[in-house]
Formats: sequence, C-alpha cells, structure tokens
Amino acid sequence: MSSRVFDFHGATRYVFGSGALARLEPEAASFGRKALLVIDPSLSGQGLQAQAADLLKAGGLECVLFQDFTQEPEPAEADAAAARAREAGCDLVVGIGGGSAMDLAKAAAVLALNDGRAADYVGVNLVPRPGLPTIMVPTTAGTGSEVTWTAVFTTRASKIKGGINSRFMFPDLALLDPVLTLTLPPGLTATTGLDALCHAVESYTSVKANPMSDLVALEAIRLISANLPLAVADGRNLPARENMLLGSLLAGLGLANAGVTAVHALSYPLGAIYGIPHGLANAMLLPHVMRFNALGSPEKFSTIARVMGMDPTGLTSKYQAQAASEAVLDLMSDLGLPDGLAALDVPPEALDDLPAKGLALARVMENNPRAMTPADARAVYEAAF
Ligand SMILES: [Fe+2]
Repeated sequence: MSSRVFDFHGATRYVFGSGALARLEPEAASFGRKALLVIDPSLSGQGLQAQAADLLKAGGLECVLFQDFTQEPEPAEADAAAARAREAGCDLVVGIGGGSAMDLAKAAAVLALNDGRAADYVGVNLVPRPGLPTIMVPTTAGTGSEVTWTAVFTTRASKIKGGINSRFMFPDLALLDPVLTLTLPPGLTATTGLDALCHAVESYTSVKANPMSDLVALEAIRLISANLPLAVADGRNLPARENMLLGSLLAGLGLANAGVTAVHALSYPLGAIYGIPHGLANAMLLPHVMRFNALGSPEKFSTIARVMGMDPTGLTSKYQAQAASEAVLDLMSDLGLPDGLAALDVPPEALDDLPAKGLALARVMENNPRAMTPADARAVYEAAF
C-alpha cells in the first residue's frame, strides 16, 4: 500500500507558550458553565490546583474537583470521574497533569455521555457517541496525551493494561505552558522525556508512518535528544523546557497518526505485572528494540542517528542504522537512569512469560518495521536486563 494514502489527526487547537495556562479563563468560558477539573493529586501542594480553579471561576465557571485517582489509573477510576461529572451536571472536562490525569479526563468526558463503563470501551473506536468538550494542560513533557485519541488504564487485579482509543477523545483544546514543567524533578523529567522520545522514534519507524507524521516525529527526535539532558541537568532552563514540551507535542502527533511499535508493546507487561512506570519501562527497552529494528528500516534509523548528532558516514547501511541505538544508549547514560530491568526488581524467570505477553499486543506489534518472533522478543528483554 502506498504510504501517500493517509489522514492526520490531533487536538482541534493548540495554544503554546509561557503563560498559556492563563488562557484557561477565556477559553473555558467559551465551552461551558461548569467544569470537571481532573488534576493530578501530586500537584495540589504546588498551588496549580488553586490557580486553575481561580481561572475557571474568573471565567464564570463553577469548578468540580476530581483528584481522587492513582497513577496509571484503573478503568473504574474513570467511571467514578464520569459519574461525578454527570451528577454535578458538568458541561466541560479540564485535565491537568501527566498522562494519568489527562487520560482519565479524556475518558471521563466520553463516559459522561455514553452508557457503558470504561472497561467496555477498551479497544478501537468502540465509543458510540461524542462526549463533553475537553481542555488538556500537560505538566510533563512526555505523554503527548494532550493531542492523542488514547487513554490507557491498568487493571491491577488481572495485571492487564488496555487503552480506549476513540475519535471522540481527541481534545478540543491543548494549552501547553512550559512554565508548568519547570518544577518537574530530574528523574521524572528523564523518564517522561524518554517516553516522548519513544513516541517519536516508534512513530517515525512505524509501518503506518506517513509524510506528515514523519515531519513531526523527526523534529521531535531532534528537539528531545538535544534538550532532554539540559532539562535534566537544570530544571529551570526555560528554553530547554520549551523545546521538550514542543518535542513531546510533536511526538504525540506522530504517535496519534502512525502509532507506536515494539517498545510500547514489550513495555506493557513490565508496567502491568511489575508496576514499572510507563516512561521508565519504555526507556529500558528503547535502545535494544532500536538495535533489533534497525535492519527493518535502515534508512530511517540512519536518519535518526544523524538527527541525534552521530556521524555514521563511511559505515555500511547496517552500521549506520545501528548507530541510532548507540546514540540513545549514550543519551541515557547522561540521564542517570537505572541500569536495566534487574535493577528494577524484575526476576530472571520473568523472561519465560514476558515475550508472549508483549507480542500479544498485536495491534501495536503490527506497526513494527521488523517481524519479531518470541525468541527475538526474549533476546530484547535479555538485553534490557
Ligand atoms: Fe508512551
């Protein structure tokens, strides 16, 4: 099939720049009268919750707070948020935080106007009707949730992660304010930033990539690889934070349109079974999946190596492509991440179960540029140990 046949989606509007949060006042007023404010509970001590509530009130909106949820939430927590929105008569949902808060907010908005529960809609385009309008405000530069159609939930009892993917979940407005990311600690800056790098590398090399997604994904790789070490070294570096938030936005657009590949597929069981945070689990796998995938798309991986500052001139195409994985390993060594899965308490016997569980995510694995057998997947996990 020609790669020139494609369509391209994202949030309806984006407002980017220092101070963008203040736009919540007039923008929210144009959407509704009563907002469900879904905000990451870890942000409540930083004054952001009060600031957002004040902006909504200044815009003439009543504000209904929902912050009783966990990181990488359960589907039932989205049901609870939707019930709160329905009971209170909310006509707008505002999500502020990282991926967990924004995913929960997006799901609550569609669940508020649909009959089923979140668990009923895990899959692709299963939500029958549009939901409430949504405004997303990211406080990390990583998830891209502010522009995607996806909300991921973890069912801890059955150790399963699953995503609701619905065209009704593209946000109506994303307010991207880099000032909100200045206080993100170095560890979270690194892992969320590497999640964004995964979105960029995976969407750029996905078999579903198209000319539009390539544009945004490659620029995201350039921005993130150049600025992530700066943002980790000095969180108050506003230009680096701006570039990271822009890189994360562009990577999210790549993800929303070309999908992700084996990194995200193989990382799902690490999160679902061992509770490893999403960005960290992806980071542990990224260079090893890239090395494996290099043969499946040598030109694109060579381009990634160049964009990340390597000069593989003179090498054969295979080694040029593998240089991209070396560039990521080098980047990760600057960021002070754990050494590998063993350091994250994943037991060696996990290698017997992980390959089948990772490859079972067929909808994601079918995007991978190189076919991966169970033995290949096991070798990737082994390399990540
Ligand atoms: Fe991700």
